[in-house]
Amino acid sequence: MGTARPARRTGRAPIGRGADRAADRGADRAADREADRELVLTRTRLARPAVVPELQLHLADDMEHVWAGLQAELDDATLPPPFWAFAWLGGQAVARHVLDVPEQVAGRRVLDLAAGSGLCGLAALLAGAAEVTSVDVDPVAVTAARLNAEVNGLPLLVQRVDVLAQPPPAVDIVLAGDVFYDAAMAARVEPWLLAAHQAGVRVLVGDPGRHYLPRPALREVAAYDIPTTRELEGVLVRTTRVYAVGP
Ligand SMILES: C[S@@+](CC[C@H](N)C(=O)[O-])C[C@H]1O[C@@H](n2cnc3c(N)ncnc32)[C@H](O)[C@@H]1O
Repeated sequence: MGTARPARRTGRAPIGRGADRAADRGADRAADREADRELVLTRTRLARPAVVPELQLHLADDMEHVWAGLQAELDDATLPPPFWAFAWLGGQAVARHVLDVPEQVAGRRVLDLAAGSGLCGLAALLAGAAEVTSVDVDPVAVTAARLNAEVNGLPLLVQRVDVLAQPPPAVDIVLAGDVFYDAAMAARVEPWLLAAHQAGVRVLVGDPGRHYLPRPALREVAAYDIPTTRELEGVLVRTTRVYAVGP
């Protein structure tokens, strides 16, 4: 813990010829990736999610501590929460369900939406998916998911992309673990998941009953009682459901 992380390189491109600028940008990205790897490795330890013991992930114990530490160290009070350092209840439920009913992903193309640690995507690979892409907008989540793929020896593709700004991609199934965590995200995710469903994609949502979950659009397919912590969820065990979008 506590290794200083260089500030992310977000300054203006250096003045120079095009090739030099491209090389500089490449070096900046490499430096950022290295800093993010160190950030993940120094804030987490390897642990197995409560109901997905098949996987090891780089996980933290205390969200507030990690978040406050990063904000102070990077001098950035707007830094988003380190979602990537936890196996959220919704993600654990989706991952468990995929492992319990592997035929729904076996041989299929899977998108792990808002991947965080990559838990859902990794479970899909373990269950025999043909190809899994995990996407997240947070560059540190991308690094964390890649590290988690490495430690489990699984060929997860991980991309930093705001996939919600595009039409749903050509996949067979979308896994959405704990994506209804705030109003802004819910307002973007719900129509996108409905569009995916209407395009013939199976959509699985995992959620522990968050306020913004759009229940009318969902059909329950599984439920799990998942141990958690008072710090994260206010209780020690929370029933978490997996839903399919549509009838
Ligand atoms: C509560 S975490 C869930 C992570 C993981 N699915 C799980 O269940 O452990 C929500 C994640 O959504 C990501 N996210 C937010 N907006 C997004 C977007 N437009 N596209 C992809 N991911 C996004 C965040 O960066 C964060 O990692």
